[in-house]
Amino acid sequence: MTGRVRIAVFPVAGLGTRFLPATKAMPKEMLPVVDRPLIQYAVDEAREAGIEHFVFVTGRNKGVIEDHFDQQYELERTLEERGKTDALAELHKDLPMAGRTSFTRQQEPLGLGHAVWCAREIVRGEPFALLLPDMIMKATPGCLSQMMTAYDELGGNIIAVEQIDPKDSASYGIVDRGQGPDNGFEIVGMVEKPQPADAPSNFIISGRYILQPEIFDILSGQSTGAGGEIQLTDAMLTLMARQKFHGVKFNGKTFDCGSKIGFLTANVAYALDRPDIAEGFMKEIRELAATAGHN
Ligand code: G1P
Repeated sequence: MTGRVRIAVFPVAGLGTRFLPATKAMPKEMLPVVDRPLIQYAVDEAREAGIEHFVFVTGRNKGVIEDHFDQQYELERTLEERGKTDALAELHKDLPMAGRTSFTRQQEPLGLGHAVWCAREIVRGEPFALLLPDMIMKATPGCLSQMMTAYDELGGNIIAVEQIDPKDSASYGIVDRGQGPDNGFEIVGMVEKPQPADAPSNFIISGRYILQPEIFDILSGQSTGAGGEIQLTDAMLTLMARQKFHGVKFNGKTFDCGSKIGFLTANVAYALDRPDIAEGFMKEIRELAATAGHN
């Protein structure tokens, strides 16, 4: 059975070891791309797609994320006193409505499947969206909106996919593509982080999902998989025996902000999109590029 997707889950418990020392005391999800933290991009994308309730699966030292989605009374009063109405309006625009966020903890880093399972009591029996905030997916309409269009027609479970260089397959979940068009093809298999020789295709699971709640029952009994972690991909494969999974080829540009190059490139791309800084920034980049390697 399928129904309307109202809830989105954001796993934000990861340690961020690839960005140490920046992430020693600060959650990686709060690293800024231009002037917005990574997590804000995923929340914005979810809101644009009609999501009403935002569930964060956090961990130790992630309290700042909760503060980010709260009012900051002193700051707001100061902005008001100084007449900075634009900045104030911007802050208010980003704030989810009261009662529309939930925070739960993944107490041990046991894998993505386990993180998702930690949200089961909040999501309960509803279909839900899952957004991995490491991946910034730049597009209009956003990636989740593109998936919602497919979901309205096909129901079941939807995964956003993208093509990669086959040599990189061991960094991602890979799907086996069946019949159907790019905006909704059948997925007939999937495997987590295969070596190139074992990959069923070069379509990666790119970090956006619409899932039916039955996934939680499967995750309850899911044993460890690739990397010794409880893998969502393994649980989805089990669910695939009972329910349909469709792939939607994402139409846009993805930045894997779990990697340094992806994160830095995202900063460049979003800065070049900003009318207030694009021109000055482009000039700096041109100069840097012209002299790179000469110093
Ligand atoms: C997770 C998923 C993987 C997916 C990837 C996208 O892996 O397990 O299937 O392709 O996110 O970023 P992780 O990056 O957490 O190792």
